[in-house]
Amino acid sequence: MGAHIVTVVSGRGGCGKTTFAANLATVLADHHRGPVCLVDLDFTAGAVADQFDAEVDEGGVPDAGVATRLGRGLYAVLAPTVLGDPGRMPDRVVNELLAGLSTMYAYVVVDTPSTMNKHVMTALEYAHQQILVTTPERPALRGLRQLQDTLDTIDHDPALRTVVVNRAYPDSGMTADEIERGVRGPVAAWLPAAQEIPMSVNHGVPLVRVSPSHPYTRILRELARDHVDRP
Ligand SMILES: Nc1ncnc2c1ncn2[C@@H]1O[C@H](COP(=O)(O)OP(=O)(O)OP(=O)(O)O)[C@@H](O)[C@H]1O
Ligand SMILES: [Mg+2]
Repeated sequence: MGAHIVTVVSGRGGCGKTTFAANLATVLADHHRGPVCLVDLDFTAGAVADQFDAEVDEGGVPDAGVATRLGRGLYAVLAPTVLGDPGRMPDRVVNELLAGLSTMYAYVVVDTPSTMNKHVMTALEYAHQQILVTTPERPALRGLRQLQDTLDTIDHDPALRTVVVNRAYPDSGMTADEIERGVRGPVAAWLPAAQEIPMSVNHGVPLVRVSPSHPYTRILRELARDHVDRP
């Protein structure tokens, strides 16, 4: 059986995708259901490495065989950032990467850049699950609906989508119902705003490791268990 491939996307930049992907991959690795690979497809501003204080080969080409070990059962294919324009990366690189990783890992978690490009499209094609991250603000919610429209246009099954609200505040000026209407369906997890996240990134240790009992950690673990984990 190939890897369960999870592609993390959002309709607006800065919603917390990279933070989420890093923490999700860490939680999945903790479950010991097989090795996990986190993939950074942000070839312009890749930031997965920072989440783990890892070194990037800035000029390398992403390759299934050159994953960086981040911890027990946890690996990453980090983004080369010298490329500037992601369009210069040939299409086949990401195709071959995901096809290769899918034979080597139990889970592949793909972090994507803030704007749609052909590599994100490829990662969405490969995905068994598309996690759509938004914040509870009108522009991000509108961006998420536009993203859903795009996915509908290219005939992606809505059943693949899992919506996560990040940086949820108790009072964002919108009720949970209004937000769920805004994202056209149920929200699988409401991840709270966490003031510890900047510190965890600066130390290069995901929050789920720094603060095992933090509400962000608890809710992310529930999401992983109930919505992502394979039996
Ligand atoms: N739950 C949270 N609570 C507090 N701060 C958060 C939370 N999630 C993310 N952040 C912070 O928000 C900022 C954006 O997060 P992140 O880089 O993960 O977003 P992104 O969606 O990957 O952005 P981009 O679209 O630029 O790739 C960062 O400063 C991060 O530390
Ligand atoms: Mg990011």
